[in-house]
Amino acid sequence: MSAVRLPERRGPSTPDPRPAIPNGWLGIGYSQDVGQGQVVSRHILGRDLVLFRGNSGALSVADAYCPHLGAHLGGGSVVDDCLRCPYHHWHFGQDGACTQVPYSKVVPKAGLSTWLVREINGFIFVWHHAAGAPPSWEIPPHPALSDPSYGFVATREHLFRGHPQDISENGADFAHFIAIHGWDGVKLKFTPEGHSYRVGYDTEGVDTGYGEAGTVEVDSLAVGPGYTYTHYSGERDWLMISCFTPVDPGTVYLHQLYYARRGMSPQLMRSLIDAVYAEWRKDIRIWETKAYWENPAVVAGDGPIGQFRRWYRQFYV
Ligand code: FES
Ligand SMILES: [Fe+2]
Repeated sequence: MSAVRLPERRGPSTPDPRPAIPNGWLGIGYSQDVGQGQVVSRHILGRDLVLFRGNSGALSVADAYCPHLGAHLGGGSVVDDCLRCPYHHWHFGQDGACTQVPYSKVVPKAGLSTWLVREINGFIFVWHHAAGAPPSWEIPPHPALSDPSYGFVATREHLFRGHPQDISENGADFAHFIAIHGWDGVKLKFTPEGHSYRVGYDTEGVDTGYGEAGTVEVDSLAVGPGYTYTHYSGERDWLMISCFTPVDPGTVYLHQLYYARRGMSPQLMRSLIDAVYAEWRKDIRIWETKAYWENPAVVAGDGPIGQFRRWYRQFYV
């Protein structure tokens, strides 16, 4: 028996060639994380950000350090729709511009670096582009969320070592649906289109565990590099929306919102969410220890991995 405990792993020796943060709309939390008049500090996308919601309800996201003498603005406060720095009380508007210095008639040109923000489907998204290009696509609102017959059910979060591409790639990795999730016999169809891809599931005669075999319809859409939803319908009607965003290079924040058609028993919903999240955990265990091969050894039956990677590459340019 060895007297020392050797490490089990240190991660792959081949460096990951992918940009750590893909370009596009990336979720940085839930809308409900930032109440009216609140300031929230968050480290995500490899940087310190500050989120503030004005008294009008509008949300802003900015880099967290004050352009004056560098205070972290997370300790500041919201005054009307402005963020007031805790150090010398300079005020910054929602566009980041300095609007007031309490002890000076001159308002300096210096301002906060703000991010483009969207609040869609219960999430906060910011636009990230390594070369500073403006948005060329949007995250579509899901129709169920404006339908009063659906209601919010739950959230789930996980922080793990990984890259968002590997999570997105799951939808094109057909062989893992059998080995990891036990969905043998499900016929899958991968359809990329612009900034989205859809996975069609034909579950006829297959026990997915989410309802009586053959009665579950699954509609799954990925939009951009870090957002997907899966809508299960049929006898049970519920929706899982997921965002996965790098916190730092190599670490991913997965956060999810679950909605269901009103009238489904909370107990049943809890067991469905526990079941689906147990499947996510099985994937996460693989993702957080895996290597990334630019040219993997694939065989027929693996699914459209190459097609998926060509699609995902658009988020690196
Ligand atoms: S450091 Fe922010 S106002 Fe001075
Ligand atoms: Fe999976």
